Amino acid sequence: MLLEVNNLGKSFGGVKALQGVSFSFAQGQIGALIGPNGAGKTTLFNLLTGVFPPSSGEIHFRKRLLNGMSAVQISALGMARTFQNLQLFTNMSVLENVMVGCHGQTKTGLLGAALRLTSRKEEKHIRKTSLEMLDKVGLMDYADSPADTLPFGQKRLLEIARALAMRPEIILLDEPAAGLNPTESRFLVDLIYRIRSEGATVVLVEHDMETVMELADKIVVLDFGEKIAEGTPVEITRNDRVIEAYLGREVQQPA
Ligand SMILES: Nc1ncnc2c1ncn2[C@@H]1O[C@H](COP(=O)(O)OP(=O)(O)OP(=O)(O)O)[C@@H](O)[C@H]1O
Ligand SMILES: [Mg+2]
Repeated sequence: MLLEVNNLGKSFGGVKALQGVSFSFAQGQIGALIGPNGAGKTTLFNLLTGVFPPSSGEIHFRKRLLNGMSAVQISALGMARTFQNLQLFTNMSVLENVMVGCHGQTKTGLLGAALRLTSRKEEKHIRKTSLEMLDKVGLMDYADSPADTLPFGQKRLLEIARALAMRPEIILLDEPAAGLNPTESRFLVDLIYRIRSEGATVVLVEHDMETVMELADKIVVLDFGEKIAEGTPVEITRNDRVIEAYLGREVQQPA
């Protein structure tokens, strides 16, 4: 397995954001993590990428134990991500935002990269890779525009381009379809298939069920920090605990 999570837990003070979560994703899979708001999905991504350490359990990626590694070390192993709340450098151009991704994914890594001087040869290579990534996500025409002038949907694509610029083994996407119109969502689905066909493994956190059901080979469902189900899209839509987690509470609301 490319990514294996074993009995993972995370507490913030008294809040158990995650508890006893185990699952794995194989190389080349498109995996999805779903669950109601506050279920612990983003926290799980934060643990995987070394934003903060787990309170318990282990994470293995490419047969390496990630516990104790820094975000920079983990990203160097080939794990890239995007953020639920976009984290772009709004005062930089679209191209520069991708170029920064070639150096590292963490906020400090990004900042360090932004300030770092690189050799001209290295710079040229980074520019070429970054332009390729912009082309892949359909943003080539905006390369020199300030990042904050992009419409929201294209900012999401820019974050994906930046993550891809690291040539990751696995890319974690936190709600990539949120706020996209149907045309943009369609483009995103195609893009995720392309990313996978080029060899990367994809894990997405997503509330848009249509997108999840279409893309995912395997879905892990979290609720109140615990895994309540795991399976194919068909298995998940028929799972009683999942139906209860998503619908049970709504049904009890007054009409
Ligand atoms: N840095 C933090 N400090 C304290 N509590 C946190 C922190 N990050 C997450 N939490 C808490 O952990 C729980 C899970 O939050 P998380 O953001 O992981 O949920 P989520 O599944 O991503 O939700 P959403 O679908 O709304 O994005 C929540 O109760 C949240 O308040
Ligand atoms: Mg979240």
